[in-house]
Amino acid sequence: MPKREADRAARLREQIEVHNRRYHVEDAPIISDAEFDALMAELQTLEAEYPSLVTPDSPTQRVGGEPLAAFPRAEHSVAMLSLDNARGEDDLAEWVARVRRGLDDPDALAFVTELKIDGLSLSLTYEDGVFVRGATRGDGRVGEDVTANLKTIAEIPLRLAGSQPQPRLTVRGEVYMTRSGFQRLNAERESSDEPLFANPRNAGAGSVRQLDPKVTARRPLHFFAYTVLGAEGIATQSEALEQLADWGFPINTEWRRHTTLDQLTAYCEGWHEKRDDLDYEIDGVVIKVDSLEQQADLGSTTKHPRWAVAFKFPAAEALSVVKKIMITVGRTGKLTPTAVLEPVQIGGTVVQMAGLHNADEVARKDVRIGDTVVVARGGDVIPQIVRVVPEKRPRGTKPFRWPTKCPTCGTKVVRLEGEVAHRCPNASCPSQLRERILHWGGRGAMDVDGLGVMLAQQLVNEGLVHDLADLYELDRETLASLDRMADVSASNLIAALKRSKTRGFRHALFGLGIRFVGGSVADVLARAFDSIDDLMGADRDSLEAIDGIGPVVAESVTSFFDRPENRRVVERLVDHGVDFTRSQEPELAGPLAGVTVVLTGSLDGFSRSEAKAAIEARGGRVTSSVSGKTSYLVAGSEPGTKLARARELGVEVLDESAFRALLGEDAG
Ligand code: IVH
Repeated sequence: MPKREADRAARLREQIEVHNRRYHVEDAPIISDAEFDALMAELQTLEAEYPSLVTPDSPTQRVGGEPLAAFPRAEHSVAMLSLDNARGEDDLAEWVARVRRGLDDPDALAFVTELKIDGLSLSLTYEDGVFVRGATRGDGRVGEDVTANLKTIAEIPLRLAGSQPQPRLTVRGEVYMTRSGFQRLNAERESSDEPLFANPRNAGAGSVRQLDPKVTARRPLHFFAYTVLGAEGIATQSEALEQLADWGFPINTEWRRHTTLDQLTAYCEGWHEKRDDLDYEIDGVVIKVDSLEQQADLGSTTKHPRWAVAFKFPAAEALSVVKKIMITVGRTGKLTPTAVLEPVQIGGTVVQMAGLHNADEVARKDVRIGDTVVVARGGDVIPQIVRVVPEKRPRGTKPFRWPTKCPTCGTKVVRLEGEVAHRCPNASCPSQLRERILHWGGRGAMDVDGLGVMLAQQLVNEGLVHDLADLYELDRETLASLDRMADVSASNLIAALKRSKTRGFRHALFGLGIRFVGGSVADVLARAFDSIDDLMGADRDSLEAIDGIGPVVAESVTSFFDRPENRRVVERLVDHGVDFTRSQEPELAGPLAGVTVVLTGSLDGFSRSEAKAAIEARGGRVTSSVSGKTSYLVAGSEPGTKLARARELGVEVLDESAFRALLGEDAG
């Protein structure tokens, strides 16, 4: 192979990694996305022509290769221990005293505190600076080799930056999913009728342990490094963190160095209060002796190091009693069990219901009516039942009997092959119909104001609506005669329905509620076809030929339109004037058109998503990193590194009242 090409490929790899790090880790890109894509495309072309140029650290290897049958075993050369817990200040004081007793020179003692990220711990091996293997913790001695999956995580360097390190290094850290990424992922899964993840931790762990790296690649995963083994010239944990950052790893910048117990307690208490402000979940604080020499002197037990401890926040858990187990029927007929509980306070909110997922879960946990259960609240999903407290089970309870008939329409329920869920197969089941109406009128779909649960239920119960097209045949008089509906609300609903007709192809397609057709799939389809007629005429092969459409979606779409009743509803919707044709993307309009805003820190009057929505509603754009193209940085309290970056680039920084002024609201 010609030397010129080999040199060029090496140079491209280097450049791409630098820009990748600037974008994903340092949050400070210096080239545009298009320029980045061009570098990547050039490297891909070179590698395709000369396959021997493909190296394990080539950025092209991040995309994800072939699925695996199972993960190979990965033995840890240094065991991945767990941490002993300190619950509360007394425990912490005791641990500090123990550390002091264990040292010859306790006066020279300093600590590093770090946030305890609630993710999945990983061990990464670098040989001559190149990432060669990544493994999960497993039982601490042997984990699973998930290298191919980890290569898809942009924040994990494939090659270390800066000074040439030792021939072999091990870096440990935590892979996690942000709360916002988790919510987007779950929203997407919900709209395509896939099972939801219970919390960001499970979603993150599940994503890393995917046999198909392409699936991992699509998940919003992040990484924080916190330990390096085998590095020379590092004497303290503080230096280790700085070195890790220099090598290009993301480190959590909230770490601090302390010398007194009071400082440790203040840090722990402070984060206990502030934990909800973070976009990732933490379950405590890790306190480490700073000096590596002192760490070695203190040593480890078989389970935990003596030089570190986890200060655990009190768990957001409580006991309650199961009053009943309710089964609801979803839009696609899926039966979902929910436990109705005696109301109980958990971490500041009153909880009365807890999710149970499916029949298998109810059986596995053996949850019975009358049982006392441990309930946990995490993230934003509905609280979960952790386990039953068997000692408190009243006499005479029986295992929960899963219904064989749909609780709404009485049709015999089915369980399709390969599915955990039971379904009601009756497409005109009133519960399904109500949910379909709500979905059609929902936010990402037709956005029909005033079409809520009560109304949808009445429309079904009164026999006024049998399918989505019937909605457009409702008249004002009929609506006004319904419970809780006055003339005004009836007119408003008619007007909202009328407006919905022009929402556009993508929204209408999503609104139909076809399984696996969530918002983004609907978007892909609406761009690929001129009209719903064309889409209804497409066969599986032509659907699968579309970038972004796989066999599962293709199958689901064709079988939906194979049913004459579905085609009829669509045809009637079209007759009523619902727009099912491709449109040009509307130009962004509004006072903030062309304005790009980055948000950092927390605002008093807005959550992140509210601030984002307010900007987008005015035609502005919100991006995650500050660059030369950023118009404003909105900085709330405790801004991150973005603030320094904005100042460096001369980007205008707005505080909350200036932000309100930008939105055209009164400050204050
Ligand atoms: S240090 C000897 N630092 O907590 C163990 N761990 O039970 C050294 N974790 O399995 C671990 N954030 O998954 C350390 N900043 C942090 C951490 C952290 C989260 C996790 C890690 C470990 C568990 C300890």
